[in-house]
Amino acid sequence: MQSYHEFLSEILIPEQELQDKVKELGKIISRDYQEQDLHLVCILRGGVLFLTDLMRSISVPHSIDFMAISSYGSGVREASGHIRLTMDLRDDIQGRNVLLVEDIVDSGHTLTSVLGLLATRKPASLKVCTLLDKAERRETEVPIDYVGFVIPNKYVFGYGLDLDEYYRELPFIGVVNEDKYTPPDH
Ligand code: IMP
Ligand code: MG
Repeated sequence: MQSYHEFLSEILIPEQELQDKVKELGKIISRDYQEQDLHLVCILRGGVLFLTDLMRSISVPHSIDFMAISSYGSGVREASGHIRLTMDLRDDIQGRNVLLVEDIVDSGHTLTSVLGLLATRKPASLKVCTLLDKAERRETEVPIDYVGFVIPNKYVFGYGLDLDEYYRELPFIGVVNEDKYTPPDH
């Protein structure tokens, strides 16, 4: 495996900036959900680091659940909009105030499909919190209630986001130099 230093073209969002933003989002969410039941739903795997930091910044009691999806599509880095549920939520969300926690919204197709699916289960409310928003790549309009950072159209990794399933552990958001990156051979 390559060390990320070999293909990192720039650190787009340093660790401290991420941590500050997550705390800020946590405060706003805590205020908005005061006196309300709050249920965070995280889409595996990219949203995991964001979720666990966000939870620690949310001061109202809340529960969490996970779902996993895979998107069929042309290429690994192009979501097609057709998603397959590979792991469903454990708990029923009917009547719950659901806040979907996402790592990044790109074309918007993934989020549109997930929201469509969750809405059929009749939550009391359904909102979206995404750490990153590649707004200029949007192909379908999708409602987002909480956004960490709007970022340019660059392929990023770290803080939950992967390059071929690796490098999610990095505490910052980095931009990959595709010419210097070699995918793993397994
Ligand atoms: P969308 O359906 O095009 O909005 O795709 C969203 C999904 O694509 C995200 O949940 C990520 O898994 C993935 N994705 C989009 N852009 C990036 C990126 O820059 N780095 C890592 N994953 C990304
Ligand atoms: Mg994702």
